[in-house]
This record gives sequence, C-alpha cells and structure tokens, in this order.
Amino acid sequence: MEPRPTSADLAGAYLARTVLDRSGRRVLLKAGTLLTPRVLRLLVRHGIERVEVSDTPLLVAGGSIDQATRDRAAAASADFAQAILDGRGAQDEAAEVARSAASIVSEAQQLRRVRYNLRHLRAYDEYTFHHSIQVAELSVVIGQEMGLEDEELDRLAVGACLHDVGKAMIPIEVLHKPGRLSAEEYAVIKRHPRLGWEMVRKATDFWHTSTIVLLQHHERLDGSGYPDGIRADDVYLFSRIASVADAFDAMRADRGYRGPMPAAEVLAILAREAERRLDGRVIQALLTRVNLYPDGEIVRLSDGQLAEVTAQTPGDLLHPLVTLVGRGEKSEEQVLDLAAARLDIVEIIDERLGETRPPLHMPDRA
Ligand SMILES: [Fe+2]
Ligand SMILES: [Fe+2]
Repeated sequence: MEPRPTSADLAGAYLARTVLDRSGRRVLLKAGTLLTPRVLRLLVRHGIERVEVSDTPLLVAGGSIDQATRDRAAAASADFAQAILDGRGAQDEAAEVARSAASIVSEAQQLRRVRYNLRHLRAYDEYTFHHSIQVAELSVVIGQEMGLEDEELDRLAVGACLHDVGKAMIPIEVLHKPGRLSAEEYAVIKRHPRLGWEMVRKATDFWHTSTIVLLQHHERLDGSGYPDGIRADDVYLFSRIASVADAFDAMRADRGYRGPMPAAEVLAILAREAERRLDGRVIQALLTRVNLYPDGEIVRLSDGQLAEVTAQTPGDLLHPLVTLVGRGEKSEEQVLDLAAARLDIVEIIDERLGETRPPLHMPDRA
C-alpha cells in the first residue's frame, strides 16, 4: 500500500497502518480508524504528512467468547459422552449440547465485526472437551467469514463441539501417552472419527451436516487423511472448516513433550497445506479473523526485550506494534514497529499464570 498525502480527500477511508507520533514513542491513531475531517486535522497538526489508507473497514479490534459459555459447552459435551458410555439414553444431554453450541454461535455473532482473540483460549485439555470447544469457536468464526447463515453455524458448532467425542471410547493410556505412538497405538487413535460418528448417529437426531464433521475431520483434500481417504469434493464444507480449526488448535496446544515452533513457521505450514491438503479459502477466512498476538499480550522479542502488544498491523499477523516494557519507568515507554525493526516475537509471557509459552506449536498428531 502506497502512503498517500494527508489531505481532506482521504475522508471516509480507513487507516491501514497504525500511526505513531513524530517521536515514534506513542501511538497516535490505531489501524482501522475511520478518517474523518477531524481525524485528518489531528494528523496534520502532528506533522504526519503521509498515511497508508484502505477503502474498506479493517478487522483489527479483538473479542472472544465468554468463559462461562465455553465451560457450559464443554460440560454438556462431556455429559453427553458419559451418558452414551453408560448406555443411557442421551436425549437430554444431546439437547443441552445443541443449546450450548447455539449460545457460542449467538455470542460469536455479536463479535462478527472484530477479530477473534486467541489468547483467551485455554490450554489443550482433551478430557474436559475444552479443545473441542476451541475448535467450535474457531469453526464458527471461519463460518461467519465464509458467509454461513445462523442455522448453518448452529449445526457446524454442534459438529465441532462433538468432533472428537469418539476419543471417549479410546483407552486413556493410549490417548494420553507421552512421546511417540507405536503404529498399533496410532491405528487405535485413528478409529475415533468413525466411533464418534456411529455413536452420535445412533443416540441423536442431529443433522447430517453436524455428524459428518465427526467422521470427516481428519480427511484431507488430497486423499491422505483418514478414516476413508476420501478426496476434495467428497469432504463436506463443515468438515473442511472443522479440520482447519482442529489443525490450527493442535498447533497451539501445549502438550509438554513437543518443542516450540515459531508462529511464522506455522503460518508457512498452513500456506503449504492450503495447496493440497486443507481448503485454502477456509485457511484464508481463519487468518482474516484471528489476532495471533492480541493487544495487551506481553511478549519476548528476538533481541531479548520484553514488550506489550499495542496495536495490530493489518496484513501482517506476526508483526504487531509493541511498546517496550522498561524496568518500571513509564517514561521509558517506546513504541516499536516490529516489521520495521526486523524483530520477531519468540515467546508469549502469560502474566496471569506466571508462565511462559512458545508462540505456537506444531502437531505431530491431532
Ligand atoms: Fe480428531
Ligand atoms: Fe480434535
């Protein structure tokens, strides 16, 4: 995007990049700001002669689903799996799954004009279904971006909430085994799509478009997936959406045994997958709607400094603007454009937990 001279004819456009003041130490206006005559006068007053603009509004702010809504959906899915394992009729539990999936959708619909903040998602936890709820949230966000109707989003959310429910029938020692799986153990894990699909079809009258997600979420467009190795058009849209959300969530998950991988590499892998195995339009929709490093996140930079994410750079998810976190003195505050400074984020510091985690991880199984 070519910078344009700051003049009145830019009114009605949106800032494409966050603008710093002339000292380079403060954010003057965030990317996405609508340029009104007043805002343009402000820029001129601060001596900003050129700005990059876009004609369309940018999704740069962030939001996320309420934790109580997630916990309710996770509990509903777990109760549903338990009812089936116990051999009870699971109608009531299935109805609660549908209701809680619908509440994820209705909250997501309130956020449809903003990007989705990843940091509020919880760490991977298969047993309590939080992973599945994360996959549901991401699936809904992708579905919105792809223009699905409310009713379709509800069905997609139900399928995604239950996508791994077949794992309830896989022995826990195999499921939670640290380290590499043997070929036999991997074969056992690979049964979960069909096991889940069969059990949900028997126990509920959920729509086919929901349940097919259980069967197909590990299928890949080039036929390299499982359980059936089907290809391209045979993989339903909802399954394609959930499989991107699932793969993406698996990359972020902290499984303890797995080494960190820089986010740049994860995005490169997604781009490669988009050519053959996963649906490129689905990946594009995901990347349009997520903030990898939401505002306020504390991160460590490749030169070792700590910084707080201050504003997003549209079109460059990996390089937001950050404010260096000095050793206490507020006056030292300095805003940095990571792309211009040729710095990367190497670690996310989770203040609430007093823990650190790598920027993103790669799956070696999902
Ligand atoms: Fe799965
Ligand atoms: Fe999964």
